[in-house]
Amino acid sequence: MSAAPFDLSGRVALVTGAGSVGDGWGNGKATAVLLARHGAAVFGLDLNEAALADTGAVLADEGIADRWAARRCDMTDGADVAAAVAACVARFGRIDILVNNVGGSAPGDPVTMDETLWQAQIDLNLTTAFLACKYVLPVMTAQFDAAGRGGAIVNIGSIGGMTYQVGGRVSAGYAAAKAGLVAFGRSTAIAFVRQGIRVNTVVPGVMYTPLVEHRLVRQLGADDAARLIADRHASVPMGRMGDAWDVANAALFLASDAAGYITATELVVDGGMTAARPG
Ligand SMILES: NC(=O)c1ccc[n+]([C@@H]2O[C@H](COP(=O)([O-])OP(=O)(O)OC[C@H]3O[C@@H](n4cnc5c(N)ncnc54)[C@H](O)[C@@H]3O)[C@@H](O)[C@H]2O)c1
Repeated sequence: MSAAPFDLSGRVALVTGAGSVGDGWGNGKATAVLLARHGAAVFGLDLNEAALADTGAVLADEGIADRWAARRCDMTDGADVAAAVAACVARFGRIDILVNNVGGSAPGDPVTMDETLWQAQIDLNLTTAFLACKYVLPVMTAQFDAAGRGGAIVNIGSIGGMTYQVGGRVSAGYAAAKAGLVAFGRSTAIAFVRQGIRVNTVVPGVMYTPLVEHRLVRQLGADDAARLIADRHASVPMGRMGDAWDVANAALFLASDAAGYITATELVVDGGMTAARPG
C-alpha cells in the first residue's frame, strides 16, 4: 500500500445524487467534495441541475473546479444512465470509483402503500445501483484487462434495511430495497472479484442531512419537526445524529487503497444504533 492510501490523484469518481435536496450537505454532495479534495476528478450525476451547480460551486471556491464535471441524469432510466457513463468516460477517460448514493425513503406498509409507490421505492433505492453498475462495470473491467487496475464501488445503504422501522415509522419498500442493495453489492463483489473490482456498502444510521428538515418540516410542521429532530438525536447511543461527513468519510475509506483487502461487506455508520437495539 502507498504511504498516502487516501490519495486519489489520477482517479476518476462517478457519484450519483451528487447534489442535495436543501442547503447544506447531503451524503452525495459531501462524498463528491471529499473525493475531489483527495485528488479525484469527480463526475456528478443528479436529477437536479441547480443542486449539481451548488456542489460544483464548492469546488470552484476551493480552487479545484478542474476536478469537477456534472450532468443531469435520471438514475432510474437505463438509457440516461448509459449516456451519463459514456459522458464521464469522454470527459475524464476512465472510471475508478462509483458511488451509488441516489435514494430516499417513503413511509408505508404493504397495505398502506400502493403498487406505484412500492415500485418507485425499489427503482429509486435499488434499480439505480443496478443500472450504474451495469454500465460502469464494463469500463472498470476493460481498465483491469489493459492495466491491471479495476475499481471500487461504494453503495450507500441504510440501517432501514436492517431494522423494521427507523424513527418510529415503517418504510417497507425502502427497507426491502436497502436490504436488497446489500445483497446486490455482495453478489456483484464476488462476480467481479478477480477483475480487480471491490464492492462494499456504507450503512448509515439516522443522519442529520438537509433531507431531514426538508421532508420533516413539510410533513410535520416546524414545531413537531423540531421535537422529532430532538428525538432523533436522543435515539442514538452517541446522543446525536451523524451527518453527511460521517458517510463521506466511510465512502472515501472504502473507495481508497486503504480498503484494498475489503470487499463484499458493509461498513455501518450509526453511532451504535443497530447494536443497541433489542433483538
Ligand atoms: N439522510 C439520512 O438520514 C440517511 C440515512 C440513511 C441513508 N441515507 C441514504 O443516503 C443517500 C443520500 O441521502 P441524502 O439524505 O443525502 O439525500 P438527498 O436527497 O439530499 O440527496 C439525494 C440526491 O439524489 C438526487 N436524486 C433523487 N432521485 C434521483 C434520480 N432518480 N436520479 C438522479 N438523482 C436523483 C436528488 O436530487 C438529491 O440531490 C440515500 O441513498 C439515502 O437513502 C440517508
